[in-house]
Amino acid sequence: METITTAQKEMVRTELPEVSQIQDVELREKVLEVWALAIHESSFNSISEIKASGNPDTPPLTTGTQADHLRGVTKLAIAMADQLCELFPDLPVKRDLLIAGALCHDVGKAWEFDPKNQQRWKESPKSAGLPSIRHPAYGVYLCLRVGLPEEVAHCAGAHSGEGQLLRRSLENTIIHYADYSFWHVLKAGGLLADGQTH
Ligand SMILES: [Fe+2]
Repeated sequence: METITTAQKEMVRTELPEVSQIQDVELREKVLEVWALAIHESSFNSISEIKASGNPDTPPLTTGTQADHLRGVTKLAIAMADQLCELFPDLPVKRDLLIAGALCHDVGKAWEFDPKNQQRWKESPKSAGLPSIRHPAYGVYLCLRVGLPEEVAHCAGAHSGEGQLLRRSLENTIIHYADYSFWHVLKAGGLLADGQTH
C-alpha cells in the first residue's frame, strides 16, 4: 500500500508495543499496516485520539486511550491462552493469529468513531444509516485490503454482536471474552466515565 509510510507504521508500533510478540514478520508488518491505513484515512492522527469506548455512544475510560483498550484486550487474550495452554497442552491456540486478531479487532473504529462520519450519519440517518457500517464490518474491509489472513479479518468482523450469527474461531472466542472482560471489569472498578462513582 504505497500511501502508507514507514513513519506511520512506526507510530503504530509505538502505540501497540505488543505487536513485537508476533513471530511471523509478514503478519507483524500487516498489523502495523492496517492500523496505519485506518488512521491515515480518518480524521485522527493516532489510535490514542479515538474515543476510548466500546461504541461511539458508550462510556469511555476515565483514564486511558483506545490504544490502551487494544493493549489490554491483547494482554488478556495472551494470558488466557497461555494459562489454559499450560494446563491443557492440547488446546490448539495459534498464538501469532491470536495476538494479531486482538490488536486488529477494533481497527474499524477509526472509521465508525470518526467525528466527521458521526456528524454526517446523525444529520441524515435515512441516507446511509447510523452508522452506515459498524466497526466490525469496516474492520474486515481494512484487514482484507492489506492482505491480512481471513483468520484475523474474522476477529475484526465477529468479536462483537455480529459473532452471534456464526461460530467463532478458537482465537476469536478468546478475543471476544477478553474484549467483554476488559469493559465489564473496568466498569465494575469504577474506571468508566458512566456516572457511577461508587
Ligand atoms: Fe474492543
